Amino acid sequence: MTTTEIGSLLRTAEQAALAAGRYLARHHRSGASTRVKGLPHDVVTDADARAEAMIRETLTAAHPASEVVGEESGRSGSGEVTWYVDPIDGTHNFARGLGLFAVSVGVHLGGQPVAGVVYEPFGEELFTAADGTLLVNGAAPARRAPDPLPVVLTDIPTAGLRDPAEYALFADLNDTTDLRRIGSSALALAYVAGGRADLAANADVFAWDVAAGRALVTAAGGGFTGVPDEPGTERRGGFVAWGPGFDRHGARLAEAMGAISHLAVSAPR
Ligand code: IPD
Ligand code: CA
Ligand code: CA
Repeated sequence: MTTTEIGSLLRTAEQAALAAGRYLARHHRSGASTRVKGLPHDVVTDADARAEAMIRETLTAAHPASEVVGEESGRSGSGEVTWYVDPIDGTHNFARGLGLFAVSVGVHLGGQPVAGVVYEPFGEELFTAADGTLLVNGAAPARRAPDPLPVVLTDIPTAGLRDPAEYALFADLNDTTDLRRIGSSALALAYVAGGRADLAANADVFAWDVAAGRALVTAAGGGFTGVPDEPGTERRGGFVAWGPGFDRHGARLAEAMGAISHLAVSAPR
């Protein structure tokens, strides 16, 4: 596929994310009621399903021979292009009226990430990446000098698991970095890509949480690794991402996450 064709996939993903994000902005703070999906922390609202349906419609109308993998309604279609869709990443924030949520659309071609869009409707910020170019609202983000105290965005320790390795990692990061728990992996990755944070890591994600954000981070010259391997659609996994200049921090964090028992290759997730 040529650069122009990848550009056309990106434009479709942007269009889908913007339309869904505008719909969510209208429903934000309107008292969305949540339902629990698994653990009490894993919630969903009616807006999740509606936003995903809107995104699916836009993607498949523009590219009928493609596959969509969405958090709310699973897998449909087939083709060389796969769209990984999280209609609201940070659903609990959305439902509580907090602004930290985003629409996330990642594009894979032949199984490889090639583009991604993360749209944050509250601040109206559109993060896009394709062909090694990261843009925020259409412009290259300003780069800042590295901060001696790295800012780390993580939801570790994962609620409900009480994994001693996650608590030990949290304590260590809390002493050596400036930690934030923002509750949205897609936004955490977008913020690392945009240079607002230096590292992001989570131990409880699926492919749709990270497919777009990882494209943003790598386009920005940073790195991304799955722990123990690429987060999939069947088992929860982990990831570490880092901005340019934070490779050693990223490698150390990924190694430390190797001790988290539910992320072990043989563990049920
Ligand atoms: C959640 C976010 C969060 C991660 C959770 C996910 P959701 O997604 O990505 O960062 O820690 O495990 O479930 O449920 O708000 O789409
Ligand atoms: Ca999510
Ligand atoms: Ca979601």
